Amino acid sequence: MPAKRRPAPTDPDTGEPGRRKPGERDQLLRPDWRYVETFNMDDFRRDDWAVLNNQRDEYLRTELPRQVLGMLKASAHAPTFGYAINNFEHCLQTALLLYQDDYDEETIVAGLLHDLGFIVCPHDHGSFAASLLRPFLSEKNLWMLEHHEIFQRIHLHEYQESEDHEFVNARERWRGHPYFDWTAKFVERYDIVAINPEIESPPLEFFEPMVYRVLSHAQQQRGQ
Ligand SMILES: [Fe+2]
Ligand SMILES: [Fe+2]
Repeated sequence: MPAKRRPAPTDPDTGEPGRRKPGERDQLLRPDWRYVETFNMDDFRRDDWAVLNNQRDEYLRTELPRQVLGMLKASAHAPTFGYAINNFEHCLQTALLLYQDDYDEETIVAGLLHDLGFIVCPHDHGSFAASLLRPFLSEKNLWMLEHHEIFQRIHLHEYQESEDHEFVNARERWRGHPYFDWTAKFVERYDIVAINPEIESPPLEFFEPMVYRVLSHAQQQRGQ
């Protein structure tokens, strides 16, 4: 007997599908794809893994960029804790400034997503972005993402009660590193100034095709 499919979209306001009920399955991305017909991974065997392996790469090419954009969109209307614009608008402004300076798509996308984890992973959001984008970005932009928080410190005047030189100048340990200058420039020209309510950014849709292009030519992804 064929498995019951999750019902078609039902919510008239959001267009979202109704929730899956017991006995139903979520839809496959492509109607001609197959389900794994056992529900404990301990019971999976070669044929089951083949089903997943055959369908995973195409799935990730479309769903990975879509879900990353969804993460960013989730913050579009978030309030702020004092900045004049929220983190979503900050990300758009960074991308806009890079676009206006004729950077390549990969760098614009790195800028758009550099603070994707700023709220949900506040103390390590550079590593969060770098981990997310590792299959898609150059070493130069990954290094920039990973280190941009530390490179910001030199601009955070009177951030601390008493100036801790070691904290403020922590970037100096990488002076001479091939990506030092790019990271310092990104922070100074495209990050710390991208909090300006006077700037009008294009909608996220403007950058979406770039995100799809950059995040679709993935190196082989591995996973279950
Ligand atoms: Fe940041
Ligand atoms: Fe930022």
